[in-house]
Amino acid sequence: MRVLGIESSCDETGAAVVDENGRVLSDVVQSQVELHATYGGVIPELASRDHLRNAGHVVREALARAGLEAKDLDGIAVTNRPGLVGALLVGVQLAKGLAWANETPFVGVDHLVGHLLAVFLRRGEGEHEVPPFPFVALLASGGHTAIYRVDGPSASRVKELGGTRDDAAGEAFDKVAKLLGLGYPGGPAIDRLAKDGDPKAVPLPAPMSHTTSLDMSFSGIKTQVASLVRERGVPSTEKGLADLCASFQASVTGVLAKKLVAAAVREGVTAVVLGGGVAANRELRARTAELARAHGIRAYVPEVASCTDNAAMIAYAGAVRLAAGERDAWDLVATSATALPRATRKGRGLR
Ligand code: KG4
Ligand code: ZN
Repeated sequence: MRVLGIESSCDETGAAVVDENGRVLSDVVQSQVELHATYGGVIPELASRDHLRNAGHVVREALARAGLEAKDLDGIAVTNRPGLVGALLVGVQLAKGLAWANETPFVGVDHLVGHLLAVFLRRGEGEHEVPPFPFVALLASGGHTAIYRVDGPSASRVKELGGTRDDAAGEAFDKVAKLLGLGYPGGPAIDRLAKDGDPKAVPLPAPMSHTTSLDMSFSGIKTQVASLVRERGVPSTEKGLADLCASFQASVTGVLAKKLVAAAVREGVTAVVLGGGVAANRELRARTAELARAHGIRAYVPEVASCTDNAAMIAYAGAVRLAAGERDAWDLVATSATALPRATRKGRGLR
């Protein structure tokens, strides 16, 4: 089964072809990072317009790299929530148009489920071990940070165990990087600089790391860095900057790894999984593997290209549902079967 995935929920326009075993036949990402860099964050209107400009050629390129034409596809999957509405609409309408024109089965995919299943993608040749169900997963991205129990590869089998009460972990990386003049997105820049720094150089809080709750909080660490910068300015030496980045990174990744492994122990599972852009962080990957091992738990980490936003994870999450015979109606809002449960507002109904 060859499934085209389309992703346009935020600032990456992505298209990929993946089979139901997670083998990636093509994966194309056109990033808007430079477009938004001068603003220090994503501007929704600019994002939608850039998706419109690029989505067509990104899809054509993904099909060409997989050696396919649209009519050869067995299914089309598209991110239909959560995300910037204008941005989502571009991908959803393109996917619907393609599905309609070629009479191809179509499903909407929750972006967060895509991240949770990214660990199943196989990009190279050779052995690729995947986690057994059930597992406990940490999803840490620019917009979300939460820990889930995952009993199967669909939204209905995913249960949230805890999450951030304020900033997402990636958002904290981005805000701290902005304070330090490192540009957007901040995670990769901090990760790079932290490599040469001393993680104990600057004492920073590790909020909620000593409670049994699986909830987290990252705005305090960011505020602490902000007041340091206000008092002393941005470190003027390379060493000073590296030390501050390493200390911040150690504080955030320490909390994430500790909560994830604690959740796995509590749930009695033997596998933990990382997902989301922050899962690309070297220290988070290393700490998680080490702490999990100390508890007799195995850590499964996606390849770096599968961590940040991509359409391959959407195609795979869609392929699993399509292979089970599921199809979606063509509306933007996912049904409860396709979306992770979230706080809902009472609808006003039709008049
Ligand atoms: O999953 P993603 O690409 O988009 C969202 O769904 O939000 O995650 C983007 C986030 C950004 O906040 C970025 O700074 C962070 O992931 N990120 C990292 C690293 N690479 C990306 N954070 C820490 N270390 C990294 N190496
Ligand atoms: Zn994402």
